[in-house]
Amino acid sequence: MATINNNYLKLKAGYLFPEIARRVNSFAQAHPEAPIIRLGIGDVTEPLPSACRQAMIQAVEDMGDRSTFKGYGPEQGYEWLREKIAIHDFQSRGCDIDASEIFISDGSKCDTGNILDIFGNDNTIAVTDPVYPVYVDTNVMAGHTGDINDKGEYTGLVYLPISAENNFTAQIPSQKVDLIYLCFPNNPTGATATKEHLTAWVEYAKANNSIIFFDAAYEAFITDPDIPHSIYEIEGARECAIEFRSFSKNAGFTGTRCALTVVPKTLTAKASDGSDVELWKLWNRRQSTKFNGVSYIVQRGAEAVYSEEGKSQTRALINFYMENAQIIRQELTNANLKVYGGVNAPYVWVQTPNGLSSWDFFDKLLHTCNVVGTPGSGFGAAGEGYFRISAFNSRENVLEAMKRIIDKL
Ligand code: MLT
Repeated sequence: MATINNNYLKLKAGYLFPEIARRVNSFAQAHPEAPIIRLGIGDVTEPLPSACRQAMIQAVEDMGDRSTFKGYGPEQGYEWLREKIAIHDFQSRGCDIDASEIFISDGSKCDTGNILDIFGNDNTIAVTDPVYPVYVDTNVMAGHTGDINDKGEYTGLVYLPISAENNFTAQIPSQKVDLIYLCFPNNPTGATATKEHLTAWVEYAKANNSIIFFDAAYEAFITDPDIPHSIYEIEGARECAIEFRSFSKNAGFTGTRCALTVVPKTLTAKASDGSDVELWKLWNRRQSTKFNGVSYIVQRGAEAVYSEEGKSQTRALINFYMENAQIIRQELTNANLKVYGGVNAPYVWVQTPNGLSSWDFFDKLLHTCNVVGTPGSGFGAAGEGYFRISAFNSRENVLEAMKRIIDKL
């Protein structure tokens, strides 16, 4: 008889965003006239930069000519894209990252889950609370946790609480953990990490032979020049960190799909016989076996992000969403709500008014204002009493959503 992976039965109801979509769809069916504005999932709304579109159109033409046609590409990504990323995203900021250490993929969400393939099942794993739920759920699926408790925490995981008191940056743990997920600029709180904070993490990881999974999917939204964009800006990070990045939010690729993962060749972890094994080799082996690469057309589109036109067009897109974030911050502050984030990140983290629970506030906004956000408790127990509003939408919708919240809340 076929059996299932029982770990899936430990998962809380549904994955957060489909669960929100389910609730919104059921509301929309009951109220088909409601003009719903979605500021929940961080999905981009503005068109792809024209530099990317032109590059993809040219790539389609390449596929129509025998002399330029491409079949299977390298599983790690095309050299010309990896080179550009190494130069523009890393070396230009003083990070010693080589193109061969960059792996092109179809998403940071996928890679932050897939990376667990190359790690043992006996690691102690730390996540912040609140946290991007993929880090937790993929560990549950892999059998790295026990059951969920009454607080909504999985036994076996180490939760590092983040709150306004610690500027939404976790304290370095006093205990030893092996794998640590850090996300800066932070999803969901919009917080950033200073160089000193990241240095403390790198020192901790090196002292404890831990590996940091550094999710930098929102680095392009950093406006403060003193905030690091990459963990590799910190000395010693090549020995203890894997970094994940994405074209989804800076260049509008959520539907197009392109991302990257950096695994330095200097990074090792222990085999069961005590020997040190290069993680680059394992990830390369994993990708070569389970992945056939991102399409040539999409990689050409991503490459265009680094052209002069591409740079200025993606900058304009980022500025546009950050102006939305500024409007959301301002309007909600005027409405006497306590807001965080939204300065170096496209998410505004709001304290729910009058002690409402996150889901009660979600329902209230949906029913009263027809505005969708994301309940903070969906990101973990410590997110209770908070609510995330995404800046990814048209200006018109952001202004209208804020007007409704101010008029009706
Ligand atoms: C979010 O809303 O948190 C993001 O869109 C999720 C993601 O990028 O997968």
